[in-house]
Amino acid sequence: MPVTVVVGAQWGDEGKAKVIDLLSKEHTYVVRYQGGHNAGHTVVVDGEKYALQLVPSGILYDHVIPVIANGVVVDLPTLFNEIDTLESRGISCAELKVSSRAHLIFPWHQAHDAIAEAMRGDDKIGTTLKGIGPAYADKARRVGVRVGDVLDPERFSTLVRERAVAENTLIEQAGGDPLDVDEIVATFGELGARVAPFVDDTVSLLHAALGRGAHVLLEGAQATFLDLDHGTYPYVTSSNPTAGGACVGTGIGPRDIDRIVGITKAYTTRVGAGPFPTELLDDDGDRLIDIGKEYGTVTGRRRRAGWLDCVMLRQAVRINSLSELALTKLDILDGFETIKICTGYRVGGRLLEHYPDRSDLLADVEPVYETLDGWGSALSEAREPGQLPDAAKQFIQVVEREVGIPVRVVGVGAERDDYLVWAS
Ligand code: GDP
Ligand code: IMO
Ligand code: MG
Repeated sequence: MPVTVVVGAQWGDEGKAKVIDLLSKEHTYVVRYQGGHNAGHTVVVDGEKYALQLVPSGILYDHVIPVIANGVVVDLPTLFNEIDTLESRGISCAELKVSSRAHLIFPWHQAHDAIAEAMRGDDKIGTTLKGIGPAYADKARRVGVRVGDVLDPERFSTLVRERAVAENTLIEQAGGDPLDVDEIVATFGELGARVAPFVDDTVSLLHAALGRGAHVLLEGAQATFLDLDHGTYPYVTSSNPTAGGACVGTGIGPRDIDRIVGITKAYTTRVGAGPFPTELLDDDGDRLIDIGKEYGTVTGRRRRAGWLDCVMLRQAVRINSLSELALTKLDILDGFETIKICTGYRVGGRLLEHYPDRSDLLADVEPVYETLDGWGSALSEAREPGQLPDAAKQFIQVVEREVGIPVRVVGVGAERDDYLVWAS
């Protein structure tokens, strides 16, 4: 299996990082392909929690070469904060490669993110305010500054100054406070010099690695339903987390990919605004949030929670060509007497055949549920299917039946080893 993609099948925070950490054992390159420091990827090893935003989640293994590929938008202050924190905890980031084609995030992107959200008033998207949307917008407008630009410090400094001056005009027009141009030029001059040794043509690097038979793992951030094209627009992020985005974001073509793993929680969560058919606004929802510790890794925001939605997962299978699922956080359902799974959407008594293409339509659907018995015991010690209670096995089988692809891995706790292989 030379190239594997890991993609979120819901609205993010499915536990992608834990699965990537697990798959990293058999991969040499772990590559982030889109998004930026809006991601919060958590790996827990022996009680030590590592919260990663830009550095690929395979970093905890010595044999892994971590790569930030062309599709990512890179915030240099966050990157170096993360590297410093990891290094202070004994994790070397010396092998990190950052694509020369990746675009940089600057303080004006964050300013524009905040202004855009404020202007939306009650229609806020609830972005992470990290400047992700404005950075991708600049990329599409062809005015972005790329990582490779740091390699010519004089030109880089001129580019940053020109952009900062131009953006200040826009920020002031929108009623915002202008940024300190000299300070930005000086800070980014230093950060540019610091990132220079990590900069590489990651397309050539990855193809050379594939030519040698190396195994490459492509790490998605965000998720299918936050995808700019396939998500619940406009309540989405500004990149393509779906599997096609892995090709664009790395320069690895579709025929090189042979395994696409979709990650789903055993229930559903979402941070920020947007339609959420199976959302629970009752005690069950509060229980999922409390027991599942559903608070954002990046922003600390309380996530919204609801039952598992197999209509979403079926759509995720189609859009991403998922070959299998990893089902995480099954242990969070331990204490529920009954558990619901959404198997269809109804509108006006009629069952929908396709996933709605508009957020206003999705907001109006009525979920159709199948109710299952809970298992009433703790799953956290289970390490093989035979150790699962029958009701938990039944839950997994219903997911496989409804979604139509096998569940391969089941998560039963936050720790690195808290999982079992359901089918191999
Ligand atoms: P990501 O963004 O998809 O990588 O997911 P996050 O790291 O934002 O959120 C997932 C959270 O669930 C993290 O705190 C993980 O440590 C935790 N987690 C992952 N898998 C499991 C699991 O199977 N059971 C439990 N209890 N926690 C898990
Ligand atoms: P990981 O990789 C969950 C959400 C934000 C907001 C929308 C747009 O940890 O799964 P943005 O700042 O990207 O413009 O915000 O997307 N969002 C995430 N939600 N997990 C994430 O990443 C997210 N990254 C962005 O909450 O609704
Ligand atoms: Mg997350």
